[in-house]
Amino acid sequence: MVIITALDVADDDAYAAFHALYARSIDTELDPPWEFRELRMKLAGDEYVQSVALVAVDGDEAVGGAWAELTLKDNLQNAFATIFVDPQHRRRGFGSALWRELAVALRDQGRTVVAGEAVKRVDAVESDSERFAETLGFHVDLVNAIRELPLPADPPKAPARDGYQLAAWRGLAPEQWRAEYAHLRSLITQEAPLGEVAWENEFWDAARLELEARQWQESGRVAQIVAAVAPHGALVGHTQLIVPDASDEVYQWDTLVLPEHRGHGLGLSLKAAAMREAADLVAGRRRITTWNAASNEPMIAVNERLGYRLIGYATEYAIDLSDASPAER
Ligand SMILES: CC(C)(COP(=O)(O)OP(=O)(O)OC[C@H]1O[C@@H](n2cnc3c(N)ncnc32)[C@H](O)[C@@H]1OP(=O)(O)O)[C@@H](O)C(=O)NCCC(=O)NCCS
Repeated sequence: MVIITALDVADDDAYAAFHALYARSIDTELDPPWEFRELRMKLAGDEYVQSVALVAVDGDEAVGGAWAELTLKDNLQNAFATIFVDPQHRRRGFGSALWRELAVALRDQGRTVVAGEAVKRVDAVESDSERFAETLGFHVDLVNAIRELPLPADPPKAPARDGYQLAAWRGLAPEQWRAEYAHLRSLITQEAPLGEVAWENEFWDAARLELEARQWQESGRVAQIVAAVAPHGALVGHTQLIVPDASDEVYQWDTLVLPEHRGHGLGLSLKAAAMREAADLVAGRRRITTWNAASNEPMIAVNERLGYRLIGYATEYAIDLSDASPAER
């Protein structure tokens, strides 16, 4: 019989088993796993995001796990869930059992909308995780395209023009930009394409930027940031390249240019500059991966100019627990 319990993240052996199971359960080619220290920090939580983590044990063997992230200063009704089951133990109901427990825990915490992602390779018609999500009653909210840029790569020359300038830093934003940068970070939700789930802007302030920079450092990640400065001196865009020390992956995270500053080629300038600024960090790595809404034509056009190629899709699913069937309650 399967028994589902809360994971004690502080227990070294329990966490090591959880991370190993997670890393062998996901499609690492499309969705490289959170590295050991990163995931532990995420599950331990902080004042901005709390996590609920569960382990499923059948007999004396751990067969699957799940976690959900609950933001504490924005989107108080939403949660983001991840469920995984060891490939050797699939189709035995463990994933569904994990979801039932997780849904109870999330409802108890007042969360009604739960989102999750299912990846599939570019040539696949449908993936196991898509079928699983649909069986549980989740609906498609948004389709993201996953692209990779094989390295080494030579970004096109795309200097900032029309009076804009670029500023680069690693980790924490310099003091002079911190408040403006926190504001810019909070806007990604409103500015990037969304599905039907109502996500509010994220809460960001200077203290959260400081915490994030410490967490990057403690988990072995370097963040290369390039920001755009308008002719009148305000910060109007940025991009983030994330380089972990424990793998040969590089991640292209957020890129944002405020609406009134689009049309000046800043998307390409920012991304090409970030690759040049991070040349020493990126040397010897195998690829950069990036996810964008499949409908986000301007961003995809920039990525294709940089040489990115499509490798798969990440479908964002969502469920409203207040609509869930009685069997799920
Ligand atoms: C998705 C995942 C968690 C499912 O785990 P699982 O224990 O096999 O799920 P269940 O046995 O509870 O399956 C429940 C139902 O989902 C559907 N389903 C799941 N996998 C399926 C597959 N490969 N083909 C067809 N239907 C499938 C079926 O309807 C199944 O019920 P059934 O077996 O009675 O037909 C597992 O495949 C996995 O770990 N994938 C990688 C991680 C991931 O992508 N997680 C989801 C995103 S967070």
